This record gives sequence, C-alpha cells and structure tokens, in this order.
Amino acid sequence: ASPAAKPRLDVRLCAPRGFCAGVVRAIDAVEQALRVFGPPVYVRHEIVHNKYVVEGLRRKGAVFVDELDEVPDTQAPVIFSAHGVPKSVPGEAAGRGLFAIDATCPLVTKVHREAELHWRRGRTVVLVGHAGHPEVVGTMGQLPAGAVLLVETVEDVARLAPPDEAALAYVTQTTLSVDDTREIVDALRARFPAIAAPHKEDICYATTNRQEAVKKVAPQVDAMLVVGSPNSSNSQRLKEVAERAGCGLSRLVLRASDIDWALFGDIRSLGITAGASAPEVLVEEIIDAFAERYDVRVETVSTADESVFFPLPRDLRDKAAE
Ligand code: F3S
Repeated sequence: ASPAAKPRLDVRLCAPRGFCAGVVRAIDAVEQALRVFGPPVYVRHEIVHNKYVVEGLRRKGAVFVDELDEVPDTQAPVIFSAHGVPKSVPGEAAGRGLFAIDATCPLVTKVHREAELHWRRGRTVVLVGHAGHPEVVGTMGQLPAGAVLLVETVEDVARLAPPDEAALAYVTQTTLSVDDTREIVDALRARFPAIAAPHKEDICYATTNRQEAVKKVAPQVDAMLVVGSPNSSNSQRLKEVAERAGCGLSRLVLRASDIDWALFGDIRSLGITAGASAPEVLVEEIIDAFAERYDVRVETVSTADESVFFPLPRDLRDKAAE
C-alpha cells in the first residue's frame, strides 16, 4: 500500500522512559568486566530484568547463574545483579575466594543500610514489597531471619503482629506503585503512629518519574504499550498505572513480535513507555512495526528531566586502573 493509504496514528512517547542510572551502571559493569578480565564473567541472576539485554551479554561471554554454587572455583569475576543480594552471598563469595563485583543499584543499597540502621537501633523492620522479587529477597537478607516483616497489601498491615509496636520502622522496594505504596504506608501509620519512616522516599526517582509520565499520557490515548519484561517489577507497575489512569487497552511487551495486532491494529492514538530495564532500541523497533501499518506521527510528552549517574562499582574501577 502507498503511505497515503495508511491510517494515521498519533504516538505519544513518554519521557522519561527506559534505562535508569542503576541499570546503565549494572550493564556497564558486566561489559567493563568482560573487557578487563576477558570472558567468561559470571553474573548471579539476570543482571537486569530484560531477556534482550541478558542475551546480548551472554553472546559477549557473560555466564548467568541463579546461585553461587553454579560458579566453579575460578579467577573469573562474579557480578551481583542490580537488584541486590542477601548478605550471605558476598560472604559465600569471599569464603570461596571469588572476586565479586557488586552491581547492586546504589539506591537499593541505600535501603539495605537503612534497614540495618533501624535494626541496630532495636526496631523491627517492615518491608513493603512483592514476595519473591530478588530485591525483596536481598533486602530481607540484610538482617537475621525474622527481623524483617514483609507486607504486600493494606490487608497485610492489618495482620501484622510485631514484637514491639513502639519499636518499628518501614522501608520499601524501590520499584513499587507510588499510589499503592502511599495507601499501605498510610495504613501502617494509622496502626502504628510511632513507626519510623525513611528520610527520603525508597521508591526511586526512575520509578516515580516513569509512572508520572504514564499518568499524563494514558488518559489521552486509545492504547498504551509498556516495553519491558514480564518479570520486571517497575514495568508491570507502569502497565497498571496506565490502566488506572483510564487507558482501557494497556499491554506489556518485550519487543515488536509480541504485539497482538488483533488488539492494536485499529487505534488512532498510542502511548509508549519503557521500563527501567528496557533498551531504547526495542522502543524504536516497536515504533517501526507500527509505521509499517500506520502513518505514524511521534510526539514526546516529557514530565521530568533526569541527570542521575552512578559510577561503576569501586572494585571494578580499581581493577580497570591497574
Ligand atoms: Fe536503581 Fe531505581 Fe533503577 S532502584 S536500578 S534506579 S529502577
């Protein structure tokens, strides 16, 4: 068909979207380790929750493992993912004489240190987060078993039975829904007025900014696409935020081949965002796929500027400088 025959589609690109500073740092850490040490380098857990990124690094020589016992006794480095790890993991690596590079996002480490500080001050820590997510496993694993109580919902708050209601603090996962978390924190404060709060919000700047942009765009469009992985917490939240902001058709897709054209073949306007672990090249691929079917006009809708940057993990910088 000639371009003129294609129906028009207004695409609103959310900004900020895609890679956050913690993800850029974690991917750079693996690439830099590959350069400094040569392959293989071992990576515990998906370095960031995106199969496209993981496959790309695997092709360059990264070996992904679930646990350290899958790593042989080796001179090769072992990198911990951006989500953070329980304290036992660096302990085990040191015990085996492995060279560990910790790519935990500094904003996750901040939450770890907070939880530790509360514990040392005699407080039980309530963690708001999603059971089983690696970040939650890592944060809970900073303290002895039983020191952290996990709540996922307002109902969980009602069921909490802390040992001392006057000695409580809360921390949160960094990639939660800002609105859901506010409700849970309100419930915590209502039930435990003395509960200590984080000095600065634990939900990170990237999560907050991506959700804000979606809230602006979602009510203006027929459909929303979130580029990201199903196991990416912040991407899942973006899809939910779009639905709650009034967009009737909202889907999470890893890449263009996932688009269900029975749903997206007859729309006039489309919002696109990307989770913090989704590369921009996949956003471009998706816009190209729409451009094959539509006369696409792209407009960026920006709700914040981001300039956050984290330097590479120190151990890696020191090695690279040798
Ligand atoms: Fe860090 Fe937030 Fe990204 S915690 S890894 S900056 S989503």
